[in-house]
Amino acid sequence: MNRILTTKRLILRPMRMEDAEAITHWVSDRRVAEMTTLIPHPYALADAVEWLKRLVTHDEHHIHQVFAITLSESGELIGCIGLHRNETAPWAEFGYWLGVPFWGNGYATEALSEILRFGFEDIGLRRIEACHFAHNPASGRVMQKAGLHYEGKQRLRCQRGGQLFDRINYGLIDEDWRAFSTC
Ligand SMILES: CC(C)(COP(=O)(O)OP(=O)(O)OC[C@H]1O[C@@H](n2cnc3c(N)ncnc32)[C@H](O)[C@@H]1OP(=O)(O)O)[C@@H](O)C(=O)NCCC(=O)NCCS
Repeated sequence: MNRILTTKRLILRPMRMEDAEAITHWVSDRRVAEMTTLIPHPYALADAVEWLKRLVTHDEHHIHQVFAITLSESGELIGCIGLHRNETAPWAEFGYWLGVPFWGNGYATEALSEILRFGFEDIGLRRIEACHFAHNPASGRVMQKAGLHYEGKQRLRCQRGGQLFDRINYGLIDEDWRAFSTC
């Protein structure tokens, strides 16, 4: 169901089972996993295989459009970005991660900007949103740079490893995205 999306430096393509090793390589780094609610740590190849299997067997009402973020020059998988939605809802939530060696090069912003375009233009969504741990300002910065609006902090609204954290919410509606992407 996923298309192949391209940006200046990246190709966003559907995940495939052969990606399990690369995913494990990047995600098993604690610095990646600890900023997410769902990625376990330690992380083994079997976790990646299970996750990839679940991507294709999701229940019929929940649509997960998950893309491998790859470098267009080499084809190397450097991360992952996904849109998650209920088939009847005009909104979606996104999530992403990049392997540590690739941080700080603008890749997440580049991938997210294309995912926003895909969501609003190609799918016709009215709203796209996400959240991050309050102690992960880099993710908030990516969201700001891609045009999302800060929508507030919820105290102790997310957890990882039994610990509760404050959650920072961001969102964007289609008309604001159009205004942002044409200026
Ligand atoms: C969040 C993540 C995807 C960002 O990827 P990236 O490719 O480095 O992002 P970009 O290079 O596009 O932008 C990062 C921005 O954050 C800024 N930043 C980095 N560390 C920061 C910090 N501690 N505080 C504030 N801003 C910070 C960078 O300076 C940059 O902003 P700038 O361009 O204005 O200088 C990556 O760090 C990651 O995978 N983290 C672990 C998983 C994760 O957090 N996923 C998201 C869960 S909500």
